[in-house]
Amino acid sequence: MNFFHVHENEMWCEEVPVRRIAEDVGTPFYLYSYRTLKRHYQVFDEAFRQVPHIVCFSAKANSNVAILRTLISEGGGIDIVSGGELFRALKAGADPRKIVYSGVGKREEEIVSALDAGILMFNIESFQELEVIDRIAGGMGKKAPIAIRVNPDVDPMTHPHISTGLKENKFGINIEKSLDTYRKASSLKHIDIIGVDCHIGSQITDITPFLDALERLKKLITLLRQEGIPVHYLDLGGGLGITYNLETPPHPSDYAGAIIERAGDLGVTFILEPGRVIVGNAGILVTRVLYTKSHEDKNFIIIDAGMNDLIRPSLYGSYHFIQPVSPRGDGKVQADVVGPICESGDFLAKKRILPDARRGDLLAVMSAGAYGFTMASNYNSRPRIAEVLVRDGGYFVIRDREAYRDLVRGEHIPDFLADGTGKKL
Ligand SMILES: Cc1ncc(COP(=O)(O)O)c(C=O)c1O
Repeated sequence: MNFFHVHENEMWCEEVPVRRIAEDVGTPFYLYSYRTLKRHYQVFDEAFRQVPHIVCFSAKANSNVAILRTLISEGGGIDIVSGGELFRALKAGADPRKIVYSGVGKREEEIVSALDAGILMFNIESFQELEVIDRIAGGMGKKAPIAIRVNPDVDPMTHPHISTGLKENKFGINIEKSLDTYRKASSLKHIDIIGVDCHIGSQITDITPFLDALERLKKLITLLRQEGIPVHYLDLGGGLGITYNLETPPHPSDYAGAIIERAGDLGVTFILEPGRVIVGNAGILVTRVLYTKSHEDKNFIIIDAGMNDLIRPSLYGSYHFIQPVSPRGDGKVQADVVGPICESGDFLAKKRILPDARRGDLLAVMSAGAYGFTMASNYNSRPRIAEVLVRDGGYFVIRDREAYRDLVRGEHIPDFLADGTGKKL
């Protein structure tokens, strides 16, 4: 459930007409609903109320500090995968004891920052990483709290680019080798084993893969405990899917209920790392039609947002529902909705039946709150777009639209190319 709705031929976000924001801040821009964000967080959190748990919002889905702060103020922790995300999480006011750090390629300076901050745990993805963290923690006179990210070899039945829990994926340590890795970890002086972690993929719309992974983890936990290796935390990652089009993903309470039924008595604190399910349908991309054209039997709607702003359709063939901000008639057209980028892969929809669109119309690209802005780039030297948060009857720009000067910030013309005038960019 979200708080974007059409009323009297106008699209609203909570109590604010989307058109008004577009007129004030210009297009394109990302628009988020505070009430939706809070509701999604609360529904998810509430679903696990029977068991000790921490909901660590996955910053990769949307890392704007205002979004992070919203979820932190609801009691959430943060799941990070880089030093940059750690920086953002701390800036947003996250409790370091609710930060978990995954990722196959943690750099030494990132490990140092995370140890300095005192995060809850590192999710370890290789034995070499474990050795490096042990050495760094030793040098800092600390013990690093860790879980091993186990790759359970379960097919999440999602897009291959977002499945992570198969043997062939780069993530985690194969479940068959994990017991051995835990044994080795327990011999390292500056490592404190506190849990088990796994994350099998994203946009998972069926509960079975989660439960298959859980069964495998439960067996591993039994073996670990038999050897005296403690497991206080079980991190089940994120991955719960959302409705973009016709998908019918499990409700968070069904997902949580099934987990609690099978593992509620494990005596662990559960960690969940949801991203998409919290923020995906709490955000839209608002864009304006620049031109329309037809050739042969094809119609194109050319908009001012491109694949650099929202790459999901080009990258994964993802579907985003597109609707007019101010619907006006019954006329329909089949068209490709494309951006201004010089790539044929620059599209937000293909062969889509849409209400007739004209130059100047505003369109809302729905379900764009997750992996939208965080995956945006400056390709074609396009400044990254603004982000706006609506709360009740007001709105707040939570990220300014970039200016052209931002495009060249940090670039330098070396002396040998200077024209002698000393002119700076
Ligand atoms: C380790 C980890 N945790 C959590 C997530 C969040 O996944 P989702 O946004 O599907 O909930 C991801 C995303 O791929 C991830 O890699």
